[in-house]
Amino acid sequence: MTLTADHAAEAFRAWHGTAPEGVWHAPGRVNLMGEHTDYNSGWVLPFALDRGVVVAAARRGGDVLDIRSLQSEGQAVVPLPGLRPGTVTGWAAYPAGVAWAMRAAALPVGGASLVIDSDLPQGAGLSSSAAIECAVAIALADLYGADVPRTELAALARRAENEMVGVPSGIMDQSASLLCEAGHALLLDCRSGQTTPVPFDPAAAGLALLVVDTGARHALTDGRYAQRRAECEQAARALGVPSLRDVTDPARTAAIGDPVLARRAHHVVSDNCRVWSAVDLLGACDVGGLGPLLHDSHASLRDDFEVSWPQADVAAEAAERAGALGARMVGGGFGGSVIALVPADAAPVQAAVRAAYAGRGWVPPTFLGAPPSAGARRILLAPAPPPHTNSPDPAAPSMTFWPRAPGPGQETSEERDMAVTEDATAIAGELTHLRRAIHAEPEVGLNLPLTQQKIVAALDGLPLEVTLGSELSSVTAVLRGQGGGGPVVLLRADMDALPVAERTGLGFASRIDGTMHACGHDLHSAMLVGAARLLSARRAELPGSVVFMFQPGEEGHGGARFMIEEGVLDAAGERAAAAYALHVASAELPFGVFSTREGPMMAAAEALDITVTGRGGHGSQPHHAADPIPVACEIVTALQVLVTRRFDIFDPVVITVGSFHAGTTNNVIPDEARLEVTIRSFSPQSRALVRESAVRVVHQIAAAHGLTATAEFTNSYPVTINDDAEARFAAGVVTDFVGDDRYHPQADPMAGAEDFSYVLEEVPGAFIMLGACPPGVDPATAPFNHSALAVFDDMVLADGAALFTELAMRRLSR
Ligand code: GLA
Repeated sequence: MTLTADHAAEAFRAWHGTAPEGVWHAPGRVNLMGEHTDYNSGWVLPFALDRGVVVAAARRGGDVLDIRSLQSEGQAVVPLPGLRPGTVTGWAAYPAGVAWAMRAAALPVGGASLVIDSDLPQGAGLSSSAAIECAVAIALADLYGADVPRTELAALARRAENEMVGVPSGIMDQSASLLCEAGHALLLDCRSGQTTPVPFDPAAAGLALLVVDTGARHALTDGRYAQRRAECEQAARALGVPSLRDVTDPARTAAIGDPVLARRAHHVVSDNCRVWSAVDLLGACDVGGLGPLLHDSHASLRDDFEVSWPQADVAAEAAERAGALGARMVGGGFGGSVIALVPADAAPVQAAVRAAYAGRGWVPPTFLGAPPSAGARRILLAPAPPPHTNSPDPAAPSMTFWPRAPGPGQETSEERDMAVTEDATAIAGELTHLRRAIHAEPEVGLNLPLTQQKIVAALDGLPLEVTLGSELSSVTAVLRGQGGGGPVVLLRADMDALPVAERTGLGFASRIDGTMHACGHDLHSAMLVGAARLLSARRAELPGSVVFMFQPGEEGHGGARFMIEEGVLDAAGERAAAAYALHVASAELPFGVFSTREGPMMAAAEALDITVTGRGGHGSQPHHAADPIPVACEIVTALQVLVTRRFDIFDPVVITVGSFHAGTTNNVIPDEARLEVTIRSFSPQSRALVRESAVRVVHQIAAAHGLTATAEFTNSYPVTINDDAEARFAAGVVTDFVGDDRYHPQADPMAGAEDFSYVLEEVPGAFIMLGACPPGVDPATAPFNHSALAVFDDMVLADGAALFTELAMRRLSR
């Protein structure tokens, strides 16, 4: 997908001589269940593919659309005034139709240059037309600041297809492209418009959904789709219902006199039922149970609705014979693709389908993976670096660096903010590349050589003093401002990943098994590189120094403590006066919203390992043994009593015994019981109290029963406490820089923990959260940090880099 985006942006530059203002992506879809039900006001259950259409776009004057497609010959120049159905035909009718529908809805859409690229096969039933419509719709809406809900954009994109292209399609494809979420299918009620994301994770069930592009091409414009729709409407009339959605029992369709119409209606009613069966199965995590439903749906589309085609029937049958749990055609029919639910190793099914094709002398089919992916969104482009006049190397370096040193009084503070924003936007593409490179090769712990190399390479050429850690693969870079001997500000990014097996389906997903940047540290590193570049460009006016702290081992390894021991706080020659860290969130906070608070920001976390030691023996004679199990149970309960009786409810603690292991069988008393406990607290006082009293409870309960116990803290982070004044300062910078609506004061501290706490124990500062939930995804239900499905949007990189820059500049000038 990145390749297509870069390709479209390059083509745009080649044609127009300037960079596009952005690149937007809309995915294709496959539909798990509910075919030809959408225009019958029924239910559908599609999910988005990791392939789709990109549009590189910029506004232009003259109220004209200049549309070029890298898949189709020629250029379409479409004047917007007077545009109406019938005035544009062929491929350009899809994008032009969207502009027409948006203007007809009184949205403020004007002229634009659009370059369209796609990695979706056309006519393969994967919704390439809707992907074009949706990518153009979000591009035009963003370019012209039209604040339109996604559901409305879907309706406008459908209108373009219905009226400008002339296909009476339903609302499924546009809804899927605009509203799907990664890791989920989308349950859509096509009458009410209500949508529900349904978790769908074939990989977790040891399965995969394979798309077989049968090679037979379809075109919804050929009239057969429209004919089916008309038949359904006749069938509904025959049954006396507004639409077939209002019939719930498939047997009722037998009442229709015309046998063809009865079969059409039987398919629609039964496929609606299968959508609900599929939702129930997914709710019960029974992905395999979808197999028979897929099989039945194909039979219904083949025999009752009569929209399948020979290659689809052969592919579905061969797939099932070779071990697929079920297979069916998708989309409108008469050509396109088949989906098959297959074991994780899809090779035997692929071989069987190929063999079935070869036996008939057909051109072999192609196969695509189909990880449930995110819906349409703006993606970042990679702007070409500006010409480097003093570089003798004709191959322009990949990095943009430009000195920016206005003389005194030449720039107001608004102009300065604007310049930071513009410069951050200009390097956003490069930061995205860096973030994605780090994301694809995640490393866990204190030793992250590949990540360190990428960061060092990205800082190359900047006027920084760079030192590398000796105990860990940290990077410390110092920028000495030339605008006076002011204080030192420290900016921190963590660099490490988590032992999580990524399941986002992103094009740049982790290539390292079992390891994932699931907490967004890849974004933090890229943002801090961005800030180093923006601040280096302003070095001449910078009244002080900045320490850039790139830190490994945040996830439980205490990397910050090692870096403090190695001297990061004094790296510029004097102790930092203030320290700031940014942290992205894949859920809970809306996209682009910053949040912080005064005082405790995150909890202290302790890992406490307990071993209760008794004396094993025969289960029938406990009096001859010293049984550790009841004692350990008493400890579990006593720890909960401790929480409720010893702590102020307004300064809470959490104790969770997450692991309890003892014994081997029912009639043997074991020697030992082991407990693993996590403890969270929110103030230094309650932390000290809980550490001391939890250990005492363990020792004394064991002693009361004549046993012994050990209780050891194996790992701990202090409370992350924002300095009140620094938190107020940071909040002020955010609201001044990006506006009140993008700042949410954080009401309560978070129960997670952070080793930036060690920095804040030494230097006043603030820890600030930034929402990175992809636009169009509901932050309330999106997978949160640490989930294998957590997705962080690249679009926040420029904002993060800019905010780091503003914090440093304003704090140094204070
Ligand atoms: C096409 C249409 C959709 C839907 C499907 C069949 O993809 O665009 O609206 O009707 O066929 O389910």
